[in-house]
Amino acid sequence: MACIDSTVCSGKYTQIIYCQTPKGTTYEAVKLAIEIGYRHIDGALVYFNEHEVGQAIREKIADGTVKREDIFYCGKLWNTFHPPELVRPALEKTLEALQLDYVDLYIIEMPTAFKPGDNFYPRDEIGKYIYHETDLCATWEALEACKDAGLVKSLGVSNFNKRQLELIFNKPGLKHKPVSNQVECHPYFTQPKLLEYCREKNIVIVGYSPLGTSRDPSWVNVKSPPLLEDELLTSIAKKYRKTTAQVCLRFNIQRGVVVIPKSFNPARITENFDIFDFSLTEDEMKAVENLNKNIRFVELLMWSDHPEYPFHDKY
Ligand code: A2P
Repeated sequence: MACIDSTVCSGKYTQIIYCQTPKGTTYEAVKLAIEIGYRHIDGALVYFNEHEVGQAIREKIADGTVKREDIFYCGKLWNTFHPPELVRPALEKTLEALQLDYVDLYIIEMPTAFKPGDNFYPRDEIGKYIYHETDLCATWEALEACKDAGLVKSLGVSNFNKRQLELIFNKPGLKHKPVSNQVECHPYFTQPKLLEYCREKNIVIVGYSPLGTSRDPSWVNVKSPPLLEDELLTSIAKKYRKTTAQVCLRFNIQRGVVVIPKSFNPARITENFDIFDFSLTEDEMKAVENLNKNIRFVELLMWSDHPEYPFHDKY
């Protein structure tokens, strides 16, 4: 299913944490998205706009457009809340901002714990990020308790590599398995190995930046060319009278990858949902798969010295 990502600003992991969307932008975008037909909304405490997302959802429930059970809201546990005793309070902050009783999915946003505290991006006096001991299994157990308490329907992860997924799967006494792993995924980074592994384990891959990001060089690796200008994607788009963005989204949903294209622009929000009236042929799917360059746009290199930095492993 297509969804809207309520990520603030131009990038999820921008280091400029106060770069938030202008007041009301997220509210308007989510309301429009629900009217158009989007049901899966991808949010996070660290996007600092969950209050607007919640307001939009509640209003669309109140005016009869949708019921609560039609909406699928994904929230995320930020890096500064990994210690087990901080997990439930973090989820409760999200629920308070949303003014909802539960979220549908709650995921560990990154496998890299940061020093807990009021600062979401803690740094020392020379600007180095302050990390924290990471025990993914202990964090997971605290998440399981949140599910048992009815605060969340399903649990998942994000930016986890295979080793980190296995850590959870092999945890003695595992009560609830991760249902999804949210990772970068698009025609230039198709994630074949991780996708195969996740399929075996019944883990849904949720693809972030399915359109190849905003290409903001302050946080995006712009070594790869712009995805939406790709020649093959452009020719396929022409054939179906669609845009290259729609071809990218269609490619992923056709191979069972959930897409969360972020947009605050009404025309593009509408465009990104208009992908259910065409399909790519088998040959086109193969050709698009072959565009894979195995290069990430979102490398998060500023955290590459963290012991649990996920992207040193091949997948
Ligand atoms: P905008 O919000 O102005 O539409 P991310 O990688 O974080 O998901 O960001 C996606 C980027 O792609 C955003 O900069 C968004 O900008 C842009 N975008 C979203 N939909 C489309 C589209 N259909 N065509 C071109 N760009 C898009």
